[in-house]
Amino acid sequence: LKLGITSFSMDNVPRTTRAQAMDILSSMATVAGYKAVLMAASHSPRFFPMFMTAAGSIIPSKVLVLGAGVAGLQAIATARRLGAVVEAFDVRAAAEEEVKSLGAKFIKVEGAKDEATAGGYAVEQSEEYKAKQQALIQEHAKKSNIIICTAQIPGRKAPLLITKETVAEMVPGSVIIDLAASSGGNCELTQDNQTINSNGVSIIGNSNLPSTMPLDASKMYGKNMVNFLKLIIGEFGALNLNWDDDIVFNTCVTHQGSIQSERVKSILFPSNPV
Ligand code: NAI
Repeated sequence: LKLGITSFSMDNVPRTTRAQAMDILSSMATVAGYKAVLMAASHSPRFFPMFMTAAGSIIPSKVLVLGAGVAGLQAIATARRLGAVVEAFDVRAAAEEEVKSLGAKFIKVEGAKDEATAGGYAVEQSEEYKAKQQALIQEHAKKSNIIICTAQIPGRKAPLLITKETVAEMVPGSVIIDLAASSGGNCELTQDNQTINSNGVSIIGNSNLPSTMPLDASKMYGKNMVNFLKLIIGEFGALNLNWDDDIVFNTCVTHQGSIQSERVKSILFPSNPV
């Protein structure tokens, strides 16, 4: 701030159709969702698809995806391609159609708070809703062989969706991949950046899967950056900042010695919510 630096944070890019080409969160979540399923498959002692073999038939793996945002939808699509039976859950009503269109079953909990003003993101839910959600999710989780956790709320602790009691009732050999590990995890037993074994269930806490697929992750990130730079660089390489453009305005963190981003302000000064 003292140096008057104009800074931009790419995770502040609005989640709008026009901004999609610069949306690094979507790019990285795409990689993470895909890789989470591959990782789960390689840790699992079971096949994903159904097989009718001379040695008998193999039943398909049951995959539960928690959170059907960008990473979750990619995880559903990847697990379906591998032949698993997939169920998914999200608090946003809009997710239901997307989940179904990928050939997965949507687990519905009535009474979710869906905030149109939250820019497509999830909002904190009521205690009553959380209790209903907990009960239903635990029921489905116990019957799953693989759980991919992707549920997050920007700027807050990730919602706790899988309790240790549920893990204790899962079949040994089951795998939980928790992509929300760095913000606390969706599973009570998740340890960030660690793989633990609880009662034969592997719980892999990894919020940095994009780094395990560096070529395509960097390619996507680079393309997002170029698209953003095209927006803020004018003729002869000079900065051309149009503050009337919602992408430029919302992505900027500091400018001329003050914090511009409303999101950063509300995190730094929580008593003065904006
Ligand atoms: P995220 O990474 O913040 O969260 C992942 C998912 O977890 C979200 O779908 C959220 O609803 C869900 N979630 C939160 N709390 C939950 C709970 N208690 N139980 C179950 N699920 C819970 O979200 P992401 O992937 O960054 O996407 C956020 C939104 O932005 C989505 O609606 C997505 O479709 C939208 N989007 C829109 C774009 C556009 O250009 N129109 C581009 C990218 C994303």
